[in-house]
Amino acid sequence: MRTETSNPIPIDTRTRLVGLLGQPLGHSLSPAMHNRAFRILGLNYCYLPIEVADRDLKTVTAGIAKMNFAGYNVTIPHKIRIMDCLDAVDPLAQAIGAVNTVTIRNGRSTGYNTDGIGFVRSIEAVGGLSIKEKSIMMLGSGGAARAIAMTLAQQGAARIAIANRTEAKAHALAGDVNRQGRECCRTVPMEPPALETVLRHTDILVNTTSVGMHPREGECPIPEHLVHGGLVVCDIVYNPRQTRLLDIARQKGCRLVEGLGMLVYQGAAGFRMWTGLEAPVDAMFDAIGQNAAVK
Ligand code: ATR
Repeated sequence: MRTETSNPIPIDTRTRLVGLLGQPLGHSLSPAMHNRAFRILGLNYCYLPIEVADRDLKTVTAGIAKMNFAGYNVTIPHKIRIMDCLDAVDPLAQAIGAVNTVTIRNGRSTGYNTDGIGFVRSIEAVGGLSIKEKSIMMLGSGGAARAIAMTLAQQGAARIAIANRTEAKAHALAGDVNRQGRECCRTVPMEPPALETVLRHTDILVNTTSVGMHPREGECPIPEHLVHGGLVVCDIVYNPRQTRLLDIARQKGCRLVEGLGMLVYQGAAGFRMWTGLEAPVDAMFDAIGQNAAVK
């Protein structure tokens, strides 16, 4: 494998550009992750953070489509409004109602959502199991939960139970998932007796809430005694990497899937769309500060 130092990539007229559109972008790990992957494979690509104000989104995306861009990622606050700036939106992204990845081919911009598939791949690669035919409990009903639930349903999860602090949002999300075709989703009150009953028959527990995220480390989204050793436990929070939920799950002997996996595998899906090549995921994990995901 070529190394970064032995293989510097020149920036020239053939350089394919990729970017991240959002605002603010100061915290983003994506440029480091993708640029490392391009260098490792010796690809003449460059990934740029591009801060864009809401009012400029249409102008910027129209300009990008005329430039040497292979595509781009989209993050907060543009993931929904970007759909009005594209030539086409893939059906899964339509169902999710948000786009995080755009490809540009012959000047045509097409939007996709790779967040959910990134989550599924991270469970397969890091957790070592398929989501097909599994019973899954999701905590939370925000934007990330929507991408994950829609994709889990599309990819063949047997049952999805959603619990959320604001129960009406869980109902709305479950209804939207079920309307996509498979009646596999229901809600559970965010209360210990109800959670406990469902968790008894759950294979995979997923936290999509922001509970446990910096600066609220140490908080667990459900009462700790409800976590049992038969679960695969996933937290999409990656700051800190080891959330309180994952600490508890480790103590109970659960298999763990950290949030960095979803970040890397959603990026890997975009990388494949832009380059036509499999992404070097180990290098991508390494670039964002870890050598291997915890098992
Ligand atoms: P994202 O786009 O990352 O999914 P989001 O759309 O703001 O973020 O969703 C945040 C999720 O975390 C929601 O499910 C939210 O619950 P509500 O729908 O009740 O707001 C959940 N959440 C945030 N803070 C929480 C807290 N202190 N306790 C429980 N749930 C919380």
